[in-house]
Formats: sequence, C-alpha cells, structure tokens
Amino acid sequence: MKIQQAVLAFHCSSSSKFLLLVLLIFVAAVSQGWCFNYPNFPRGIERDLIITGEAYIVHDALQVTMDIGNTEQIKNRYGRIVHNNPIRLWKKGRLASFNSTFVLNVSPYSGPPGEGLAFILSQDSKVPNNSMGQWLGIVNATTNGTSQASIVAVEFDTKKSFAEDLDNNHVGFNINSINSKHQTSLNNSGLVISNGTSTNITAMIVYDGDTKTMNISVFRGKKVGTKAPILSIPNLDLSQYLPEMVYVGFSASTGPVAIERNCILEWYFTFDELGKESKFPRWVYIVVAVSILVSLCGIGVAAGYFCYKRKQRPLSSYDLPIFTGVGPKKFKLKDLKAATGNFNRKNELGRGGFGIVYKGNLEGQFVAVKRVKDTPKGMQNLIAEVTTIGSLHHKNLVELIGWCYEGSELLLVYEYMQHRSLDTFLYCNDEIIGWKIEDKTLSWTKRYNIICGVAQALDYLHNECLKRVLHRDIKASNIMLDAEFNARLGDFGLARMFKLSEKTHHSTKEIAGTPGYMAPELFLTGKATTETDVFAFGVLALVLATGKKPGIQDELSESSTCIIDWVWELNSLDSVTDAIDPKLKGSYDERQAKQMLVLGLACCHPNPNMRPSMGYVLQVLLGEAILPTVSSEKPAFVWPAPSPSFTNEHSYSGGMLSTFSSINGR
Ligand SMILES: *[C@@H]1O[C@H](CO)[C@@H](O)[C@H](O)[C@H]1NC(C)=O
Ligand SMILES: *[C@@H]1O[C@H](CO)[C@@H](O)[C@H](O)[C@H]1NC(C)=O
Ligand SMILES: *[C@@H]1O[C@H](CO)[C@@H](O)[C@H](O)[C@H]1NC(C)=O
Ligand SMILES: *[C@@H]1O[C@H](CO)[C@@H](O)[C@H](O)[C@H]1NC(C)=O
Ligand SMILES: *[C@@H]1O[C@H](CO)[C@@H](O)[C@H](O)[C@H]1NC(C)=O
Ligand SMILES: *[C@@H]1O[C@H](CO)[C@@H](O)[C@H](O)[C@H]1NC(C)=O
Ligand SMILES: *[C@@H]1O[C@H](CO)[C@@H](O)[C@H](O)[C@H]1NC(C)=O
Ligand SMILES: *[C@@H]1O[C@H](CO)[C@@H](O)[C@H](O)[C@H]1NC(C)=O
Repeated sequence: MKIQQAVLAFHCSSSSKFLLLVLLIFVAAVSQGWCFNYPNFPRGIERDLIITGEAYIVHDALQVTMDIGNTEQIKNRYGRIVHNNPIRLWKKGRLASFNSTFVLNVSPYSGPPGEGLAFILSQDSKVPNNSMGQWLGIVNATTNGTSQASIVAVEFDTKKSFAEDLDNNHVGFNINSINSKHQTSLNNSGLVISNGTSTNITAMIVYDGDTKTMNISVFRGKKVGTKAPILSIPNLDLSQYLPEMVYVGFSASTGPVAIERNCILEWYFTFDELGKESKFPRWVYIVVAVSILVSLCGIGVAAGYFCYKRKQRPLSSYDLPIFTGVGPKKFKLKDLKAATGNFNRKNELGRGGFGIVYKGNLEGQFVAVKRVKDTPKGMQNLIAEVTTIGSLHHKNLVELIGWCYEGSELLLVYEYMQHRSLDTFLYCNDEIIGWKIEDKTLSWTKRYNIICGVAQALDYLHNECLKRVLHRDIKASNIMLDAEFNARLGDFGLARMFKLSEKTHHSTKEIAGTPGYMAPELFLTGKATTETDVFAFGVLALVLATGKKPGIQDELSESSTCIIDWVWELNSLDSVTDAIDPKLKGSYDERQAKQMLVLGLACCHPNPNMRPSMGYVLQVLLGEAILPTVSSEKPAFVWPAPSPSFTNEHSYSGGMLSTFSSINGR
C-alpha cells in the first residue's frame, strides 16, 4: 500500500515534468528558429538585455546614449544594449539567416547632431572603453581595424567624422572598423536620420545565410514598406569575421561637440537556426510530434485523474505557474547569493514575520531579495506570493522581478525601493542619517500623496484586478517608498487568491495580521475580508497623519490606549487636527488633514458593514465624493455585526452618495 502510494506520487509529480520535457524536445526539433518582438520597451524588459556604458531604458524606449540632462552632460557618451541570448550565427561552414527590423529615432539638441547609432553583431556584449565620438560605441582607437574587435555593424551615421565618410546622413556597413566597406547617403531616400522626434525611421536588415546576402532597407515611419534595399551586400560570409556565437543589439555615441539622443523605439528579430540539413521534410516531424503529443495527453489525463483523486498533493516547484512574456523570472541560487554577498548581514534591509530582506546587486541593478523562512508554510507563502503579485501590475505595487526555489532556500526578488519603508521615516529618523534627504520628516504633501497611492493600490486589489486579492497585512512597514516617495504596497506574504464566490476557506483559524492594524472581528472570525483591509487602511491613515504608532504610549494619550480612540475623542471635541504630527510644525493643508483623519476613523468603524469601500475612499481622496461623517461617540463593537439597514447610520459601501440622506455637522 505504502509503496503503491509512493509510486503514484512519483508518477504524479514527474509526469508533468516529463511531458514538458518531451514537448520541449519536439518543439526544438520541429522549429527552426526563434524570435523576439519588442513593440516597445516597458519597465522590466531590461531583464532580457545586457546594457553597458551610458545606455538605459526610459520612456518605453532603448536610450543607447543619454536622453536627459543639459548639453554638457550628454557630450562624449557611449553605450551598448544587446539581447542577453547570443545567437549561433554559423556552424561547420553553414550560416544562419536573420531579420532584424527596428524603429529608430534620433533627435539633435541645438547645434550639430552626432555622432551616430548602429545595429551590431558582436562577440563582446560590452561596449569598448573610450568608444565615444567618432567610434559610435563600435570600436575604440585600440581595436579599430583589428580582428580583436570581432564586430559587424550597420551604422546610421549623423556626422562626417572622416574623409571616408560620405556625408552626415548615411548608412554604412562596417567590419571590425569604423570605416565602412559599403555606404550610401540617405539623401537619396529623402530621409534625414537626425531629424528629431517627428521622423521615425524603420530599418530592416535581412541576412540570408544560404545566398550570403545582406539587404539593408529603410522606410519612413514605423512600418516596413516595399521599397528596394538601399544596400545589398552579396558574397558576405559572416563566419569569416565573427565567432559562432554573437550578441545582437545596438551601440551609439555622442561627441565632444555634436550630440543627439539615440533611441530605439521598437525591435523585431527573427532568426532561422541552422535547420536546413534535416533529412526529412518538416511535416514528418510535425506528424510525429503531434501523434506523440496526443498519446501523451491520454497518459496525462489518466495521471491527472489519479493525482486529482489523491488528496493533498505535495508541493513541488512544478506547481509554480509558468509565466509568459514579461513576468517574474526564475533565478539561480548562486546568482542571488553573489548579488547579496552570500546574504551578508551588512546588506540586510529589514526583517519580518516571513523572513529577512537583503539588498542585492544583479549586474548593476539594485534589487531587494526576500529570504522566506523555510517553514511548512514557507512554500505556500512563496506560491501565494508568486501567483498573486506576479500577475498584478500597478504603479503603487512593488514589482516582483523573480523567484528562486533551490534546496531549502525560498527567495523572492523585488524592485529595490530607494526610500525603504514608511515606518523608517515615521519612527526611526536616526537610522537614515547619511541619506541624501534634505528633510527627514515627510512633508504633508508627501504624506497625502502616499495615502492616495495606498488607496489606489488597494482599490485595484479589491475591485479592479481579475480575481479579488486581499492584502491582509497593511501597515507602515509594508508601505515601500520609491525614489519619488510614491507609495508602493509590498509584502504579499499573507495575501492569497480569494475567489469572489468562495464562502469559506480554512476550518482552522489562523489569525494573520499585525496587532494595532487588525479589525476587532478578525479576532472572532479569523477571516480576512475586504473590510478588514479597509480597517487596516484606516489605522494607516491615522498613523501617517499623526506620526504615532497604532498603540500610542506617550504623554499626549494617557487616557487612551489606541490611536483610534484618541483621534475619535479629538474629533468629537471638534479639534481633530490637534492630532496632526507635531513634527510638521503646523505646515499642512487643513482641509486635507481633516479629510485624512476623519476618513481614517470611518474606515476604523467597529462594525465592518459600516466601513466605506476602497472605491469610495478613493473617490473621497480624489474629491469626487463627500467625506463621510462619523458619530461623536465611537460605536461599541457588537458581534454579529448589525447589517446597515438596521442602523440609523449612513452606509457608504459601494461608494454611493445617495445613501447620505442627512448630512449634518454632528
Ligand atoms: C522582417 O521582419 C519584419 C518585422 O517582423 C517584417 O515586417 C518583414 O516583412 C520581415 N522581412 C522579411 C524579408 O522577411
Ligand atoms: C578599447 O577596448 C578594448 C576592449 O574593450 C580595451 O581593452 C582597451 O583598453 C580599450 N582602449 C582604450 C584606449 O580604452
Ligand atoms: C574599462 O575601464 C574601466 C574603468 O576605467 C576598467 O575598470 C575596465 O577594466 C576597462 N575595461 C577594459 C576591457 O579595458
Ligand atoms: C580605423 O581602421 C581602419 C582600418 O580598418 C583604418 O583605415 C582607419 O584609418 C582607422 N581609423 C582611425 C581613425 O584610426
Ligand atoms: C545630404 O544632405 C546633407 C544636408 O543637406 C548634405 O550636407 C550632404 O552633403 C548630402 N549628401 C550627399 C551625398 O549629397
Ligand atoms: C524633418 O522634420 C520636419 C518636421 O519637424 C518635417 O516637416 C520634414 O519633412 C522632415 N524631413 C525629413 C527629410 O524627414
Ligand atoms: C515617432 O515615434 C514616437 C514614439 O512612439 C511617437 O510619439 C511619434 O508620434 C512618432 N512620430 C511620427 C511622426 O510618427
Ligand atoms: C535582396 O534584395 C534583392 C534586390 O531587391 C533581392 O533580389 C534579394 O532577394 C534580396 N535578398 C534577401 C536575402 O532579402
């Protein structure tokens, strides 16, 4: 019996692995190439790329040289961006074919434009040192004209730097050198490369490894047209100049006088691998693959049935969702160890109930690496987190970059938040000495912006994403602050998918949350709801406005034990703004301050049915709905909670204004 179970368990966990493997092998056998398509370059895309020199990504485009700053700052710059997957260009004398089509935009500053931009095939992913100015990031004075350069480039040159250069507006084909073997002026096509933002140019570079021809075509705008190539290079055996494996991408430079922005807006690359020697026509592979797949599916369905019958399937890494496109990426443990200095204490950013967070450096990009405690719950949390936040995208949520599960290590990799978390600013000002922050007290404007950001994130989680997500642990230390002090909600360790129709979940009560932020009914039901999130949001609003901890213990509040009671009392005395953080020294917006505190109180109503929805809260903050009134006495907590129709109080769930029948000043 035991053995049978074990065998079955083996089948179930390995069948999906096996199926995937077979599928991959056949896909690899049948397909003869691969491609990537970037209709734009959104945030996160840098994971696919290797970026060196002064290149970076901003405004959804590759900026191969800088696009900001004053003219002094962008002089003498050079950069390179290549795809992180090198391609196999040739093997045993056979050459691959490719099509690299991209949209470029070059805008000058005042003065002459320069120096140029190039599409490259290169052994080296990194831009050579000192390849600014005339060198276009292709070669430098040392490597020019030598086979050490190991590069082939199609240059879009905007400055006549040498006598050999045709003019200041030409396309050239270069091998290991800045001098072009072939070149043609774009004047003939009526195009000016550096004509600014109004002129986008589509370039199509097609190389046929069978006929050894490279065709270079250019078109005005963002579409491939039908015009004949401007350069057609016959008898070009790229294997003579380049190694088998090469990187593909772009390089560019600016000069000491001539400067410009060098942008790539779109890039489509298809690559036909060396699949030409197969003995059978392609359809034979397809028929074989399909028939094997069909029979495997049969086995898969049967295995799935058995797996389904078995209760409590053990979790394996194959239960993690496979993301397509831009999404969380799987990292190797050794890379994350290297990035964090082997989880060095010096890199520690913070500790929480679910593990320690470290600052890491992944190829120059700062990240936050969360090392999830390896408890039985650890894996569950990891899965919850990857499934939950991997599919969420919002400007006020911390983005999950990737994850790693090796041995007993569970790691999550997030965007690095420059200003850490809200509690650092509210409570631990001493720790942030040495930061470039003029004023370590958060200004009122920043605070108001933060609470609006949190409200937007929660409204998105509760009402706007495909499946409702509860955060379950809203508190100051889970509100991250980015470089511009925007609130970014993090730590979904406790968040779990929660389908709208689901009535109950666990039978065991596990109270999750942080004391001070937990709604009273949570202690009785143990069940997180949108209303318990709203309660925690209310506490956060009070904490942010007053600069106090949820359970305040200072001279101001001798009689009160919690922030809600204290603010409630001040509100009933019509002096709610007395609660505002004294560190602000009175510089705050009176109307906004009152709004934030009263809204906070409304969210902290002991009766969950009386709390506003996040949608309503957001409307109030945006000035689209009126501020709810709160009773002068804090209502008592009654359970089960009376439904709103049996009370005289106003109901604002759903954000409906019409339910306010009598609005009065208490
Ligand atoms: C090259 O790729 C572009 C973009 O995908 C496409 O529009 C064009 O037709 C391709 N050219 C050739 C010759 O296949
Ligand atoms: C040119 O680039 C090569 C290779 O990157 C490097 O070794 C060399 O030092 C560079 N030359 C100069 C003058 O920077
Ligand atoms: C390029 O220059 C940097 C800094 O000057 C140096 O650390 C690096 O080794 C150089 N790279 C090469 C390939 O010479
Ligand atoms: C670069 O190398 C080529 C040889 O490929 C040579 O003719 C040319 O003069 C060199 N350019 C400079 C500026 O050194
Ligand atoms: C192309 O036009 C530019 C600007 O009018 C001019 O400087 C250049 O000489 C022209 N090129 C050729 C090859 O005529
Ligand atoms: C250059 O841009 C201007 C608008 O800024 C446009 O009218 C003109 O046609 C463009 N010239 C070329 C050759 O693309
Ligand atoms: C060029 O592309 C940019 C960025 O996508 C776009 O904003 C601009 O309108 C385009 N220019 C023209 C003339 O189509
Ligand atoms: C290159 O262009 C020429 C002329 O239009 C055409 O005959 C040839 O088929 C093209 N070759 C490739 C590989 O696109």
